[in-house]
Amino acid sequence: MNQAEVRIRALEDTDIGDITALDEKLGGKYRPEVWERRLGYYMRRDPDSSSVAEADGRVVGFMLGEVRSGEFGLEEPTGWIEVLGVDPDYRGSAVGRRLAERVLESFRARGATHVRTLVDEEMAGIGDFFVALGFEPAPMRPFVKRF
Ligand SMILES: CC(C)(COP(=O)(O)OP(=O)(O)OC[C@H]1O[C@@H](n2cnc3c(N)ncnc32)[C@H](O)[C@@H]1OP(=O)(O)O)[C@@H](O)C(=O)NCCC(=O)NCCS
Repeated sequence: MNQAEVRIRALEDTDIGDITALDEKLGGKYRPEVWERRLGYYMRRDPDSSSVAEADGRVVGFMLGEVRSGEFGLEEPTGWIEVLGVDPDYRGSAVGRRLAERVLESFRARGATHVRTLVDEEMAGIGDFFVALGFEPAPMRPFVKRF
């Protein structure tokens, strides 16, 4: 695949349909109300940092996040990468890397000094992706309590 065919740009609210379809392709569930709420949140909070990859006239990848500070004892402004996905047909061609470059540049422009994310240890590929991008394990432990 020719990388030049994939364009990286800011998230737009008209991407909801494509992202819902891509999420269904990745996870097997059609969840339009989840994506309407989630994309609405990022569009309101920080429409420029969240990014999509477009090819053949549709969204083939997305990375959503925002800059926050003062949470979890972290005072420094931190760019949080919270959701990402690349269409399996477009993986292995630096689409994820190019999405991250745009998102990180935008975080930096908003004053972030660090970028963080959380990865489920069972999803090893995603962890390896972040390591390839220069991320390293952080000394924070997630805790969970089930209801
Ligand atoms: C992780 C993911 C975003 C990678 O996208 P991609 O476009 O294939 O990644 P890239 O081609 O840009 O890869 C960038 C680097 O990461 C590495 N990498 C990517 N996926 C990897 C994997 N599964 N295992 C090991 N390394 C991987 C690549 O080798 C590359 O390294 P290099 O530049 O040193 O050669 C994609 O596989 C994905 O969407 N996975 C599912 C995400 C998901 O489940 N999201 C829901 C929870 S938020």
